[in-house]
Amino acid sequence: MKGIILTGGKGTRLHPASKTINKGLLPIYDKPMIYYPLSTLMLSGIKDILIISTPEDIDRFKDLLGDGSFLGINLSYDVQNEPNGIAECFIIGENFIGDDSVCLILGDNIFYGNHFGNILRDAVQDVEHNLNSNIFGYYVLDPERFGVVEFDSDMNAISIEEKPSKPKSNYAAVGLYFYTNSVIDIAKNIQPSNRGELEITTVNQEYLKRKELKVKLLGRGHTWLDTGTHDTLVDAALFVRMIEQRQGLKIACPEEIAFRMGFIDEKTLLDLGKKYNNKYGSYLQKIVQS
Ligand code: G1P
Repeated sequence: MKGIILTGGKGTRLHPASKTINKGLLPIYDKPMIYYPLSTLMLSGIKDILIISTPEDIDRFKDLLGDGSFLGINLSYDVQNEPNGIAECFIIGENFIGDDSVCLILGDNIFYGNHFGNILRDAVQDVEHNLNSNIFGYYVLDPERFGVVEFDSDMNAISIEEKPSKPKSNYAAVGLYFYTNSVIDIAKNIQPSNRGELEITTVNQEYLKRKELKVKLLGRGHTWLDTGTHDTLVDAALFVRMIEQRQGLKIACPEEIAFRMGFIDEKTLLDLGKKYNNKYGSYLQKIVQS
């Protein structure tokens, strides 16, 4: 399975904080925002990842992450010229995806929870072996801000709507999508919404119509945060800081995940740790020594 991180858009809701820098590069406590979705893809076992951003911002992501070899992964880069919608990334990424299945994660989505890696790897298996595309629902207080999934009494998804004024449930569709290769054709054939965007919700509606979509739930023990506003940006930073200070264990540390997933060896992790003369660096070195 291939992976795509979409961190495009003008991020106007975060202006002026993100006026001259893509929000994916803003820090969430101790690391750039993009480290979080990158970590999620790596935990899924995905090693070929395409980062899509704006023409103005893409080089900064390259400066930050390069070809990914320091993490034992392969990173490539492409641009979305205009904010034409999330689903356009499958058209932009067509050659990159090739004949493979693909996981898309939105650049501002942060996930944290016990056994999350297992949940992700189960989704990969379900797509690859059973050809079921997988998305996740998460109970929120303000579903009208998101894609909203409606379930029947057996918790089978029966409808998905994008930012409905009257949500049919409290379950938001999170910005993490595991799709079969058909997503390329689906994305090419959907119509833009009223706001002129190729909506990811329209892609999900098509999979639902074909009965090829499983909507799994992320339970109450999981944390899902998006970081699109000034308040949610700070909330996410404080959440990460609190957990990291309590446990002394980092959330979404790609170097650590690369080591634990077997993508890099001890020496590489140690060398990465030595590059930072701060607590982040000592943390990486301590992983090897403990
Ligand atoms: C997008 C999707 C929405 C999804 C959300 C998750 O909304 O359109 O369906 O629930 O991401 O973060 P946006 O953040 O672009 O408003």
